Amino acid sequence: MTVRNILKMGEPLLWEIAQRVPQEDILSLATQSLIQDLLDTMRAANGAGLAAPQIGISQQIVVFGFEKNQRYPDELPIPQTILINPVITPMEDIKESSWEGCLSVPGLRGKVPRYRKIRYHGLNQNGESIDRIVEGFHARVVQHECDHLIGKLYPMRIEDLTQFGFTEVLFPELNPSDVDE
Ligand code: NI
Repeated sequence: MTVRNILKMGEPLLWEIAQRVPQEDILSLATQSLIQDLLDTMRAANGAGLAAPQIGISQQIVVFGFEKNQRYPDELPIPQTILINPVITPMEDIKESSWEGCLSVPGLRGKVPRYRKIRYHGLNQNGESIDRIVEGFHARVVQHECDHLIGKLYPMRIEDLTQFGFTEVLFPELNPSDVDE
């Protein structure tokens, strides 16, 4: 159980394309302990999700999910998921804009257009297939986390930069100790 340091925007590794994880490596001690570190680090930071590059490992692994999230108190729960080598397919052309934050961009929020409904598939921590069709915040979180695997952070997706600012200004009702990682 290790809470790892989260890289912040500006670190070159966050712009890299992450490597696929060979299926035979998923059950290895190295991969399993990386997954545990991702979960521990995400929980310690109250994150909705976390991608391996954010803790300095350029591999295609993301974790996400929560019952109740202090950073996003109005959102519905998302099942805790470990997703390896993910592929996303939009289910319709419609994009919706909504607020996002990122543990690698602390203290800020921006309004980001994302596909409203997607299918995602990949492998779980046991090397078994995950294949889901989701919408809304669940779809948004998956698109955000998978962007980390192709070297994209959410500010690069913002279309209207007037919709980008400090969390304490945009959302004064949120408790700073919950969101100011
Ligand atoms: Ni992020």
